Amino acid sequence: MNLKPYIQHQQQVAIIGLGYIGLPLALEFAKAYQVIGFDIDDNRVQLLNQGIDPSSELSTEAFAQKHITFTSDPALLDKASIYIICVPTDIDKNKTPELTPLKQSSHLVGQHLSKGDIVVYESTVYPGCTEEVCIPILEQASGLRYNTDFFVGYSPERIVPGDKARPITSILKVVSGSKPTVTHFLGDLYGSIITAGIKTVSSIKVAEAAKVIENTQRDLNISLMNELAIIFDRMDIDIHEVLDAAATKWNFHSYYPGLVGGHCIGVDPYYLIYKANYLGIHPEVIAAGRRINDSIPHFIASKLTKKLLELEKSTFDSRVLVMGVTFKENVADIRNSKVLNLVEELKAYSLHVDVVDPRASAADVSSYAGITLSTKPSGKYDAIILAVSHDEYLAMSTKALSNLLIDSDGIIFDIKGILDKTQFDDIHYWKL
Ligand SMILES: NC(=O)c1ccc[n+]([C@@H]2O[C@H](COP(=O)([O-])OP(=O)(O)OC[C@H]3O[C@@H](n4cnc5c(N)ncnc54)[C@H](O)[C@@H]3O)[C@@H](O)[C@H]2O)c1
Repeated sequence: MNLKPYIQHQQQVAIIGLGYIGLPLALEFAKAYQVIGFDIDDNRVQLLNQGIDPSSELSTEAFAQKHITFTSDPALLDKASIYIICVPTDIDKNKTPELTPLKQSSHLVGQHLSKGDIVVYESTVYPGCTEEVCIPILEQASGLRYNTDFFVGYSPERIVPGDKARPITSILKVVSGSKPTVTHFLGDLYGSIITAGIKTVSSIKVAEAAKVIENTQRDLNISLMNELAIIFDRMDIDIHEVLDAAATKWNFHSYYPGLVGGHCIGVDPYYLIYKANYLGIHPEVIAAGRRINDSIPHFIASKLTKKLLELEKSTFDSRVLVMGVTFKENVADIRNSKVLNLVEELKAYSLHVDVVDPRASAADVSSYAGITLSTKPSGKYDAIILAVSHDEYLAMSTKALSNLLIDSDGIIFDIKGILDKTQFDDIHYWKL
């Protein structure tokens, strides 16, 4: 590897936090470098040592022949000279940044820093967070001086879990450093594993802002579609047909209505809102988008309840099957899944709800949301909500789906708009 001269000692890369982001990054670095994969979760480390990805994203083959040590023992961090922090950055109940993992991991890394080391943050944050929150902790825990003794970078992660077509190496990486030489060094370091290329930017703040607006823009675009879906539903206009027609104009951008969950798109805008509020600015557009997207579970639940009542079905006696509970298709991740909110809304209408999902872990769903996941549908249902377009559901025949319904007065709610409406002539079909 082409090292910059002011970094003297042998490079060992430590990745802190081995989840959806940290693990693929660690395994990619481990093809060319000695890597220490550190996580505070000992159970996770044990599984990783057996070649099992607890997030179910990577196969066992991905672990083969790599120079990597998985550990939850902080002592091993002494050996590293590059530390890449990939810990979660969630929001709390008040929708403000939950920075505890970021602060704790900064403190931990600070305790193991030596002169010449570089700490890179990949976790999504608001612009200014690395310099205002993390660096003072690194200085305090290490007793070293920032940009004299140790250096910092920020390189946002852009992996999309579940997207097998775009592995980490194929996604262009934005890289920043606390000094031009650090940016340059980190550009070379990441450039040695990312084949798609590197975009260096002039400051850590720019890189932080670039990441947070990528997801904010997506959140807002989807919120517009959700608002349109609500308007057109009242007018009995099929929004998907409208979008197909509008997309024939060259400068129309295609987005679709849906449940915006997960720990990126539905979370990151709150980081920007938080920082803006701190600066005395009250973002209206970003906040409105969040409000609309957060209201969709209630919209769907009330829509279904009205449909049932129209068909003279009592909510007290009606059985609903929710298919899919993860925050998006083909992943096991249920964190901040809006389907969980939808289930709560349905239960609040006194409906009997069964929830199935071929990918989610029943234990996770129970401990995270207090919802019992059924292993399979049981009996007949008054309504089915196809909430997540897992491949398993895409492969299901129309007949298999309609066989789960109680009678021809059964209802199918197709949240992702994936079913062919013409196949459900005898059934009440609705899509978001
Ligand atoms: N998952 C995505 O789609 C995605 C995409 C781009 C960016 N990001 C960002 O990447 C960051 C990580 O997200 P993720 O999805 O990989 O999270 P994750 O929850 O899957 O993994 C985080 C890991 O960090 C570990 N951890 C928590 N606190 C720690 C600590 N103090 N020290 C060491 N390890 C610790 C956890 O045990 C867990 O294994 C977040 O900031 C997220 O916003 C995520």
